[in-house]
Amino acid sequence: MTFDPCSFLYEVAQTDNARTVIREVEGRRVVVVQSVEGANHVLRSNPGNYRKELWPFRQVMGASRLTEDGDNWAQREAVTQPYLAKFDPARLAIKSKEHADLLAARLLEPETAGRLEQFAIDVTTIRVLSDTLLDGRLADEAEDFASDLHVMLDYAASYAFSGRDSNTHIDRQTTRNLARIRQRMLHRLTQVRQDLPAGDIVLHALDAADRDGPDGFVFEHELMQLFSAGADTSAAALGWCCQALAENQSTQDNVRAEVSALQATQLSDPAVISRLPWLNGLVDETLRLYPPIPMLGRLAKAPDVVDQFNIEPETLVFVSLIGVHRNHLLWPDPDAFCARRHGLDGARTARAMPFSTGPRICGGSRFAIIELKVILASLVRQLHFVPSELDPGEFQWRISMRRKLGHPVNVLPLD
Ligand code: HEM
Repeated sequence: MTFDPCSFLYEVAQTDNARTVIREVEGRRVVVVQSVEGANHVLRSNPGNYRKELWPFRQVMGASRLTEDGDNWAQREAVTQPYLAKFDPARLAIKSKEHADLLAARLLEPETAGRLEQFAIDVTTIRVLSDTLLDGRLADEAEDFASDLHVMLDYAASYAFSGRDSNTHIDRQTTRNLARIRQRMLHRLTQVRQDLPAGDIVLHALDAADRDGPDGFVFEHELMQLFSAGADTSAAALGWCCQALAENQSTQDNVRAEVSALQATQLSDPAVISRLPWLNGLVDETLRLYPPIPMLGRLAKAPDVVDQFNIEPETLVFVSLIGVHRNHLLWPDPDAFCARRHGLDGARTARAMPFSTGPRICGGSRFAIIELKVILASLVRQLHFVPSELDPGEFQWRISMRRKLGHPVNVLPLD
């Protein structure tokens, strides 16, 4: 991929801070929205006018709630959201703690050589999602699942900006490889569908919708995208939180003091974990500076006006969460990491929107926040995160924002 959307968005946030601008991306004119008003307009006030621009993801992984619009989306949302909203927070916290302990042990194994191994984090969030929502049905295959998901997301991301009508050349070997991986992924998910456990409400709802639900609803596609939306993003967020801890040792000390004061059972009590001010500040500030989904791509259907720009039909709009979150009018010294600004000193200055806003807001934000906090609390109790010499190189974008070579973080045991 020649275009690096994450570097692009950070650059625009610097050069045109707080302003919505027009730029050219891969030969296409793009409106980059960086104001809260503009973001709210596109995502919340007039969302019906903006179609999601995720066609390569739809082609590679199938149509799902994440990629569809209009009635196609509404029908899918009605199937999955009631069940996603009903997850058991206590079970989620216990599973997150269990897998965080395994992750901590993994990160200290000699073969990782003290590096923060992002892949181990990716596998962890797949296991947590699988254990909490799918009765553990994919947990044993989490590593293969994570590798295959990465290939599919990378492939889709590399065509994301070329435009639906472009003649982008895809070589035969890549196409064959992708077809093989896609087949393997679908096979795995079809296996999940056999002998559904009686108590698993999510799987039963997906299964029923596949048989009698909306046209084009495919159990395997919906589940695949749920893992992309629900595990890949949380893993990216955890990687950025570990980097923030390494770069901000005093925040790390404060978080550790908070979690060390807890009894062991409180570490997996969502009510206790969600009331720790430094842990909250760490997560909120990391999601502000490094939103795991850094932008929301939309295509305008009809004429509109956003931040004084006339929007014509088929205009590509990027709502830059990086731009909105680094807006100096909302956050003084916006590039600085400051966990305190999220309520620790009394009033909050503003609220970030890492989970988006409006009808297409993340369906699992409550799930994600509990998961992140429980995992981080356990990690910080056992590990010390320090900056490493690694040059993190470029960003990697595959809907979620990553570091191509991993985060520049080393992991040490706590004395
Ligand atoms: C830190 C972790 C997460 C972040 C930052 C995040 C962020 C987002 C964002 C920004 C969107 C909107 C995308 C768009 O408008 O194009 C989204 C959609 C979605 N997310 Fe999340 N998410 C996270 C974790 C999760 C988890 C854990 C789940 C499920 C358990 C989940 C389920 C979904 C679903 C189903 C959608 C599609 C919503 C719709 O269009 O109806 N997400 N997420």
